[in-house]
Amino acid sequence: MTRRPLVAGNWKMNGVQASIGVLKKIIDGAQTLGNVDLIICPPATLIASFAAAARGTRVGIGGQDCHAEASGAYTGDISAEMLRDAGATAVILGHSERRRYHGETDSVVRAKTVAARRAGLLAIVCIGETRVQRDSGQANDVVRAQLDGSLPDACDDIVVAYEPVWAIGTGSTPTPGDVRAMHGLIREQLTSRFGDAGQAVRILYGGSVKPENAKELLGIENVDGALVGGASLNAGEFLAIARVYR
Ligand code: PGA
Repeated sequence: MTRRPLVAGNWKMNGVQASIGVLKKIIDGAQTLGNVDLIICPPATLIASFAAAARGTRVGIGGQDCHAEASGAYTGDISAEMLRDAGATAVILGHSERRRYHGETDSVVRAKTVAARRAGLLAIVCIGETRVQRDSGQANDVVRAQLDGSLPDACDDIVVAYEPVWAIGTGSTPTPGDVRAMHGLIREQLTSRFGDAGQAVRILYGGSVKPENAKELLGIENVDGALVGGASLNAGEFLAIARVYR
């Protein structure tokens, strides 16, 4: 089973209108890249202008969260349909920062994932254990439970991002052996739940992916790309990571 790799950039709460220069550099550089999908997820305020600039290029634009409902009295929230209307084609869901700072549970993430698919967005669903959970030997159980609880009944238009919380923004990453083991476990669970369709789901690694470690991390079995935070704010670094795929 060959899966087309995906490198997605999560800008988090960074970027203003002037940051479109970074996107334009990524769009330019992307022209010479190999077989890889690229998505940039800027803050919601930039989605419409970024999507307009990226139209017709090979760079997709995504959101970083959405509400489960299509519309309604939910002050401050944005629906999947609104993201789609602004030009997004994807959305990150259940990022550990959403789980931590906004109390998002697996069932909340699942409802949002259903909404993303309803709106025709690719859902990038994030899971991953904390340092304490890994150190106490619970990483596999935590990841299994998050996967089970966060995914909807079908897995087309779903991408899973394994992001160990302790590797996000810290500069530390799991060993290649630990990444291989965890991605293998996720693949096993996807195929036991969804059959052949589970083989087609891309599993991204996220957490301190940089140009220096991209080749090693992205070369691991069942690692079908990366979800990149900090390094995606720099066009050169983001492109260097994507250039692993020739
Ligand atoms: P990082 O973030 O690459 O800065 O570690 C990854 C993420 O949070 O998606």
